[in-house]
Amino acid sequence: MIQQQIDVALGYRSYTIYAGSDMSSSFAPMCRQHGISDAVVVITDQNVARYYLKPMLRNLVEQKFQPLTIKIPAGETQKSMNSTNAILTKMLKERVPRNACVIALGGGVIGDLAGFVAAIYQRGIKLVQVPTTLLSQVDSSIGGKVGVNHKLGKNMIGAFHQPVFVWTDIDCLKTLPLREMVCGMGEVVKYGIIRSAELFGFIDSHLDEILGLNREALINIQTQCAKIKAEVVSLDEKESGVRIILNCGHTIGHGLEAAGRYTLLKHGEAVLLGLVAESYISKEMGLLDAASYERILSLINRIPMKAKLSSLKISDVIKAISLDKKRISKKLRFVLPTTIGSVKVVEDVEPKLIQAVVKKIIKGK
Ligand SMILES: NC(=O)c1ccc[n+]([C@@H]2O[C@H](COP(=O)([O-])OP(=O)(O)OC[C@H]3O[C@@H](n4cnc5c(N)ncnc54)[C@H](O)[C@@H]3O)[C@@H](O)[C@H]2O)c1
Ligand SMILES: [Zn+2]
Repeated sequence: MIQQQIDVALGYRSYTIYAGSDMSSSFAPMCRQHGISDAVVVITDQNVARYYLKPMLRNLVEQKFQPLTIKIPAGETQKSMNSTNAILTKMLKERVPRNACVIALGGGVIGDLAGFVAAIYQRGIKLVQVPTTLLSQVDSSIGGKVGVNHKLGKNMIGAFHQPVFVWTDIDCLKTLPLREMVCGMGEVVKYGIIRSAELFGFIDSHLDEILGLNREALINIQTQCAKIKAEVVSLDEKESGVRIILNCGHTIGHGLEAAGRYTLLKHGEAVLLGLVAESYISKEMGLLDAASYERILSLINRIPMKAKLSSLKISDVIKAISLDKKRISKKLRFVLPTTIGSVKVVEDVEPKLIQAVVKKIIKGK
């Protein structure tokens, strides 16, 4: 049942995020309603396929679609030019026509990779996002950023390619490992901090229900996060202005993630730590009051994150943060909370303070 519809307003490329539970049988009819032609290419990974591929294919065939399935191994390493090439080759061999539609069934890895394939196959074909992780349901499936990694940097090759619609069934989260739920919470807490004291308060008072997969609590956070992302993306599709606020927690977060060689910490875990670190920086700079910092810290401490940071070297993290600097602009930019619900972009954070906070995070104090 579809419980919420959120519009992403982008002129003639506007689209709807449909969210709810028990939605699998209405997927193919919705594709028909959106004028998707018979040729569809379902791209998914092996973990997701185990649970969700058969029902989707059955539903598509019932509605007379002719699906081609492309199943790849799971994991971030699949977000590569090699996988892109292999998928494109398969699609060309199968003579997938230009009016076909790619259906990205999976988490952020599949969404980014399949979305990139859709963006470049015969100069771009239609895309439907069917996100199955918390992170992809609240974040990566919305906003049109698609792409793959390069050995010289994460997400370095890509495009903006908006979907025809996004299909978010929160029942998928029942099979998601707890660690992946925790990762999704990184982005969920971020949305509260950057834009909504109400969302933050809800997470704070309903954390057990969220992690216990209570449907109402999940729909509530999914809707609030999707609305925030949709609003920010509508204001600034290509990240030349306000979209930067989505990077709160990510300057330090990316540094931790890279220093752990993308294996020690998952992205969402690094974001949770990055949010604590950047809130601390904000407090030390007199931009955030101590009580708000304590609220952020105590909420994040209640999220069951298991990552062990003792093997991380402070110097590696600092180096990774500075490399990030080159990527974004000449100066190192932080999106710092000023209250719970609003942020400020700051470029003059003292290196000593960055060093101190990285040490504090690694030592867990
Ligand atoms: N495009 C964007 O705007 C954007 C934003 C944030 C993150 N991202 C990207 O998203 C990626 C991370 O996405 P993710 O956290 O969803 O990771 P993921 O896609 O790797 O999924 C995590 C794991 O969960 C499994 N899985 C997925 N759905 C499942 C389900 N319902 N039940 C059981 N297992 C399931 C996957 O097979 C995988 O092993 C990164 O590559 C990141 O760069 C993109
Ligand atoms: Zn993120």
